[in-house]
Amino acid sequence: MDKLEKALQKAREQREIMLQQRAVEQQKELPQKQQVTAEQVQSTIVPIHEGYLERYHVIAHRMRNKEADIFRILRTQVLQIMAQSGFRTLGITSANYGDGKTTVALNLAVSIALDQKQTVLLVDLDLRKPSITQYLGIEPPFGISDHIINGVPISKCLLRPSFDRLNILPAGAPMDNSSEILGSPRMSELAHELKTRYPDRIIIYDLPPTLAQDDPIAFLPQVDAVLLVVNDGVTRIAEVKQSMSVLVNANVIGTVLNNSDGHKKPGKLKDASTYLSKTYAKVKKLSAD
Ligand SMILES: Nc1ncnc2c1ncn2[C@@H]1O[C@H](COP(=O)(O)OP(=O)(O)OP(=O)(O)O)[C@@H](O)[C@H]1O
Ligand SMILES: [Mg+2]
Repeated sequence: MDKLEKALQKAREQREIMLQQRAVEQQKELPQKQQVTAEQVQSTIVPIHEGYLERYHVIAHRMRNKEADIFRILRTQVLQIMAQSGFRTLGITSANYGDGKTTVALNLAVSIALDQKQTVLLVDLDLRKPSITQYLGIEPPFGISDHIINGVPISKCLLRPSFDRLNILPAGAPMDNSSEILGSPRMSELAHELKTRYPDRIIIYDLPPTLAQDDPIAFLPQVDAVLLVVNDGVTRIAEVKQSMSVLVNANVIGTVLNNSDGHKKPGKLKDASTYLSKTYAKVKKLSAD
């Protein structure tokens, strides 16, 4: 490992510790997560507690709201390019942990589902570190890990949260060997099943980061297009370049610059469009209320 790689590795580790501490802090004041039973999964719409949406910055459903408008603009651009190219599956990734992949994936999925014309399936493929149901305050009975390990049918894993036209496929219990699972025949069968079983849906995959141990490379052949989230002022230029080489065979349709505050920090990325194809949206620091 050369000096730069060591420094990057250290920065990643520190960031992960910081994120874990923050998650523990954040969890303290929220109401208990809702336990959803196996029976409820298939018959019930699961209400989402507004406190969780606020805490985890899911804001795309807010009307007359500038932050939500950014996701409406992102939605229009993404849907347009996907329709033009006949794409139906979109992967969302970033260089490192904590860059905002899940926040962008959730807000984009909610925004698309509110479009009235489009149903969305949001899939948590961050198998080692899943967070979608955590951000929605739900404890589902099954997820992808139950499907992969115990053959639980996908229909028993799908959740219907209280956003019309949005379905969620949770990851289930965290799995350490995420990279191997993402590249397994079981996983490509699952991707194929989702695509054929729900032909009218846009499928959004919340992927692991490109530069961590559980990189999503093995799953990339299953997605039509990829959005790269860049954490403004945090993601380094070298990390963007490394990510782009990981994604070399994927169809990166653009970038979302997250936490964009407009201030340049030395050595960090200011404007991703200098390095990448197209920046679709600049998501500012989102407020929690
Ligand atoms: N634009 C933003 N404004 C404010 N907070 C944000 C923003 N984007 C993300 N966050 C917060 O930063 C934290 C990390 O975001 P998120 O979980 O979306 O990142 P991630 O890339 O999915 O992380 P991981 O790799 O751990 O899955 C969360 O607490 C999230 O609410
Ligand atoms: Mg995430």
